[in-house]
Amino acid sequence: APGTATARAQPNIALVKYWGKRDEDLILPVAGSLSMTLDAFPTTTRVSVDPALDEDSFELNGAPAPAAARARTVRFLERVRELAGASARARVVSANEAPTGAGLASSAAGFAALALAASRAYGLDLDAPALSRLARRGSGSACRSIVDRYALWHAGTDDASSFAEAVPAPDMRLVIVTVDGSEKAVSSREGMRRTAATSPFYPAWAATTEQTLEEMVTACAAGDFEAIGQLTESHALRMHAVINASMPPVRYLAPASVAVFDAAASLRAAGVSAWATADAGPNVCVLTRPDDAAEVAAAVAPLGAVRTVGPGSGARLVDSAQP
Ligand code: DP6
Repeated sequence: APGTATARAQPNIALVKYWGKRDEDLILPVAGSLSMTLDAFPTTTRVSVDPALDEDSFELNGAPAPAAARARTVRFLERVRELAGASARARVVSANEAPTGAGLASSAAGFAALALAASRAYGLDLDAPALSRLARRGSGSACRSIVDRYALWHAGTDDASSFAEAVPAPDMRLVIVTVDGSEKAVSSREGMRRTAATSPFYPAWAATTEQTLEEMVTACAAGDFEAIGQLTESHALRMHAVINASMPPVRYLAPASVAVFDAAASLRAAGVSAWATADAGPNVCVLTRPDDAAEVAAAVAPLGAVRTVGPGSGARLVDSAQP
């Protein structure tokens, strides 16, 4: 008999970034990374297994999903069916609450929710590391959105050893500054490929990120906010440096993004905790202590649309009915 399950997951922002794969098919990263799962912008996904279906269907925010998104979802469901030893197709209905174009309607929340909902709908009861490994196959960063609050993604050397788990860290806030609502020019997936293939700085990036990660894990465990902030901003700038050295050139940061990095530096000069980071797009997150968050948000408000978020929960089952 067919199963149905609904799961919810939220995006994450990396403080130590993932950029580059050692294995494209398994999505094994060139180095580990560390992130905060957000308490905002959830994606909710229902998966219904239905033997009467000829093919999988995927509805996103009330409309049939674009072909590329559907193809990626079907490939993911194939993997779940392989694990479950099942062949029936499924109906996937997904909705995300992220503002469009803010770069937060993330594949991380999407594949984390899909991994949990689909595995349950097909009758699998995966433990957290297995669920993280499954989510990773949809999108690398999704393996971290399985985890509550702060997640360390172990790079690993094979499918079994590459997953995320929770690490201790102090309470933090991210002030998200949306400076530009337009679509990114080059997807993360393509940008990573290009960086690995052409950037002369890539070997240095790959060789140093594990060291940065170790320092970050230590700083988080010690609650050393100054070190966490410095490592976060420096690692983000390093990622953009290795990207910027690609051929043909890629640049994700806009002038308005750089203005937010400058605003963070000015805040620090005034004794306020504020450290900037940015992913594969122009929007910037400013990392700050909870007590400083209101001041930081007010200071960057002229530079874009501002939203302050804290650490949130990993993927959660909303409901499920098993055969
Ligand atoms: C810049 O996880 O979206 O946000 O594994 O190809 O799906 P794929 O890439 P994805 O890349 C995220 C890149 C990043 C940094 C990070 O989240 O660590």
